[in-house]
Amino acid sequence: MRAVDIIEKKRNGLELTDEEIKWIIDNYTNDSIPDYQMSALLMAIYFQGMNKHEAATMTKAMVESGDQIDLSDIEGIKVDKHSTGGVGDTTTIILAPLVASVGAPIAKMSGRGLGHTGGTLDKLEAIPGFHIELTSDEFIDAVNKHKIAVIGQTGNLTPADKRIYALRDVTGTVNSIPLIASSIMSKKIAAGSDAIVLDVKVGSGAFMKTVEDANRLGQTMVEIGEKVGRRTMVVVSDMSQPLGRAIGNALEVKEAIETLRGEGPEDLTELVLTLGSQMVVLGGKAETLDEARSLLEEAIQSGKALDKLKEFLTTQGGDANVVDDPSLLAQAKYQIELPAQRSGKISEMQAEKIGIASMLLGAGRASKEDEIDMAVGIVLNKKIGDDVKEGESILTIHSNREDVSDVVELLQENITIADEASEPKLILNTITK
Ligand code: URA
Ligand code: CA
Repeated sequence: MRAVDIIEKKRNGLELTDEEIKWIIDNYTNDSIPDYQMSALLMAIYFQGMNKHEAATMTKAMVESGDQIDLSDIEGIKVDKHSTGGVGDTTTIILAPLVASVGAPIAKMSGRGLGHTGGTLDKLEAIPGFHIELTSDEFIDAVNKHKIAVIGQTGNLTPADKRIYALRDVTGTVNSIPLIASSIMSKKIAAGSDAIVLDVKVGSGAFMKTVEDANRLGQTMVEIGEKVGRRTMVVVSDMSQPLGRAIGNALEVKEAIETLRGEGPEDLTELVLTLGSQMVVLGGKAETLDEARSLLEEAIQSGKALDKLKEFLTTQGGDANVVDDPSLLAQAKYQIELPAQRSGKISEMQAEKIGIASMLLGAGRASKEDEIDMAVGIVLNKKIGDDVKEGESILTIHSNREDVSDVVELLQENITIADEASEPKLILNTITK
């Protein structure tokens, strides 16, 4: 086979065979195909697309390019969850103990990564003593015994995706539905779970700008998952404003605890129950989404979910007292209110820019070496559609530096008050096979 023939075939809008796709992925991963040919092929895919069969073949080839985690020693159906980016997205820390509390095993591998706030691992490490350094035997034992454990990424998973994603980043080919779908699905499949729940975000700060595109991405991922034998469900949700009220590591942990207690923000609670219901059905602990939702609501009301969080933290060395006394979490030195410049209704809160403001305070990493400040971040006192009076606080900045004029300026530019505005719809669609 020759790379140039495959490039021309895709350029002309034809379907690639399984053999051609596997050959390209294998040979790009082992350095036999140069970046310039892979770049040309990616651009051809960007313009001509791939059908669902091609996308599934590409996903499989990327999974097989590296290690695959074996979770078969864990009893039950293992369900994993993934969100396609988001700001102030605390869902994993809530979902993991919530779903585990009704008996579905959560064997979570989580990352740090770059972003507005830390990844799930960083947030968990905001809890004094909590550690993620478990051996694989300890990890498996913990999930079998407690139904929940979280470890850091291990092994060499999907090296083909790592290289292709880096190349897409510099060749204008990130925003392609089959390429995004195969990239995300390859990582989830290699991580070894039996079933996958995906939260596809839509909005200014997300990869997908329209509901139609998000639906297409969701359908493609469901199709890929089912083709490789992993049950897959998708929720399409709004990301035009940050989810919940807290953006920042310790602040989000506190919000997660409140949500597990049944006192969390309405939107965050709704999204968690929607995603959690899918996880519980796929995990075989309920027949229908309604039945699953009732189980989860009951776990929150009875305190079972909160108890599971304490059990999880204790097992991994964390101080479970933070659950009853969140003041044990890191606190910022200064709390600065952002006053409304006029009266009206909040009409815009640009999620991504508010995330960047939080990163400027030190909540996230701009580069891999950056240290995260667990205490800092932003807490929204108002959300889109809320009434506000001139001078009233829109949000509270939690900072360890006194001068936050850069952050205030960025926030003021990206929050709009108008005469009329309504709350955006949170759950836009759910997709199952
Ligand atoms: N996230 C991924 O992991 N891959 C993509 O291509 C886009 C988002
Ligand atoms: Ca939040």
